[in-house]
Amino acid sequence: MNTDISTDWVRALDAIKEIVGPAGWFTDPAELEPYLTEWRKILHGNCKMVVRPASTEETAIVVEICHQARIPITPQGGNTGMVGGGVPEDGIVLCTNRMTAVRELDADNSTITVEAGCILSDVQNAASDSGLLFPLSLAAEGSCCIGGNIATNAGGNNTIRYGNIREIVLGLEVVLPDGRVWNGLRQLRKCNTGYDLKQLFIGSEGTLGIITAAVLALTPAPKGRLTAMATADNWDDLLKLFGIINGRLTGSLIAFEVFTRLGMEITTRHIADAINPFKQMHAFYALIETVYYGNDSAVREALETGMGEALEQEIINDAVIAESARHADNLWRIREGLPEAQSVESGVIKHDISIPISKIPNFAKAGSKLAMEIIPGCRVLPFGHMGDGNIHFNLLAPENLDQEKFFTCYMGKVNRALHDLAVSMGGSFSAEHGIGQIKRGEMIRYRSDVEMDLMARIKSAFDPHNGMNPGKIFDPVQAAKSTAR
Ligand code: FAD
Ligand code: MLT
Ligand code: ZN
Repeated sequence: MNTDISTDWVRALDAIKEIVGPAGWFTDPAELEPYLTEWRKILHGNCKMVVRPASTEETAIVVEICHQARIPITPQGGNTGMVGGGVPEDGIVLCTNRMTAVRELDADNSTITVEAGCILSDVQNAASDSGLLFPLSLAAEGSCCIGGNIATNAGGNNTIRYGNIREIVLGLEVVLPDGRVWNGLRQLRKCNTGYDLKQLFIGSEGTLGIITAAVLALTPAPKGRLTAMATADNWDDLLKLFGIINGRLTGSLIAFEVFTRLGMEITTRHIADAINPFKQMHAFYALIETVYYGNDSAVREALETGMGEALEQEIINDAVIAESARHADNLWRIREGLPEAQSVESGVIKHDISIPISKIPNFAKAGSKLAMEIIPGCRVLPFGHMGDGNIHFNLLAPENLDQEKFFTCYMGKVNRALHDLAVSMGGSFSAEHGIGQIKRGEMIRYRSDVEMDLMARIKSAFDPHNGMNPGKIFDPVQAAKSTAR
């Protein structure tokens, strides 16, 4: 533990140790280390102790102690966030990974009530064991937690059909920054009783309180899925393919994901079980997933007819429809292996852009040109959730460039150029990953004074001492100053 610590803090930390017991805290630097950095290991922070309460009650007492002693708290779930929201500046990391109970599954109401530390894939499995579907799905689902998903308003692969997690959260339980517990665990689909407070916590990235449990809406589980991959020569053709498939399969289409040749190359190179289903390499790939509830024949026919039409019109040049669950899993492995493959391949500058779907081809063409002008030789790797307008416009370092130099010389400049481009086309600089630490500057640049002012006031209403995840999303003082007239 650091020695530069006041006696008030020492007393408070000792009291916390008593509350959570030996399994609920650690201060050993080697144990702290994974909690001080993030998935890409670009950011590194500091904290005095990691605290892992086992219940809402313990969480509330820990938070109250921190509030009294003015110890900042950084909430953490699975620590898979992409923007440094879980990287602490000081104080304690409060990790939810001991709060993993499924409190209730009400099949007749199609709801599940889970604690914040439940791993996303465990929630999916609990739902499917009851013949239901929890539709949020993303590549980090084996390690991210429901609390983190809600705190970031996670999107993922199935937004096109089921929305972001905001659309499926019915109720929340939250420990507020002063330690009070708000029990909003309502299992209702209608409840118009004043301000809908849960919406404020969804996407608040741990700055307004600690989500300890949630009620989530489930949907009937489909009987099966049909997964296909098609290849194309350019963005305009991908857009046309999306139009054909979406038109024929609305309601059944749950994912329309895209990536480029470079994506196929690096995933099949670095991810052991990702196998290219095509004999040749192609410029673009679309991964399509549909579900059916009765017999598969109508969906299969619509998918085959759509693919046939696209082939006939030379919109696509090759296609496969998975004939087994294993084949489908392999197609998904290529897509889901992309983030990891990129990290193995080289340094990555990320852009989590959303844009009206109709404008994706123009954005991608103009964005590639800009990126190449700013970083000569950079390898442009756009991929992601085209069906909902969210493209991860990532850039890999030029092969001969020092990784450090790639970030220090180019990141700020290229971020600015691509975010300006997205915003000028009616898009967003942060579609699904949030703001965290990495995009604080962009908040000030792109959000209006009115928005910043309202956000600063909400923050100060919930957390007047700025103890809950300070320094994330925005600095309340700076936000207030930037809007002062
Ligand atoms: P953490 O990383 O631990 O925390 C994220 C933020 O939430 C932090 O600000 C933290 O302080 C706060 N927080 C965590 N738990 C709580 C809580 N209980 N109460 C209050 N605040 C809390 N994201 C997508 O949206 N779509 C994707 O498709 C997607 N794909 C990914 C693929 C990979 C391979 C990886 C590594 C990440 C991906 N992500 C994606 C990003 C990440 O998985 C999501 O943001 C996820 O929702 C974070 O969950 P977590 O439990 O890991 O949260
Ligand atoms: C994904 O969709 O795989 C992640 O959100 C993207 C990323 O790694 O940028
Ligand atoms: Zn994504």
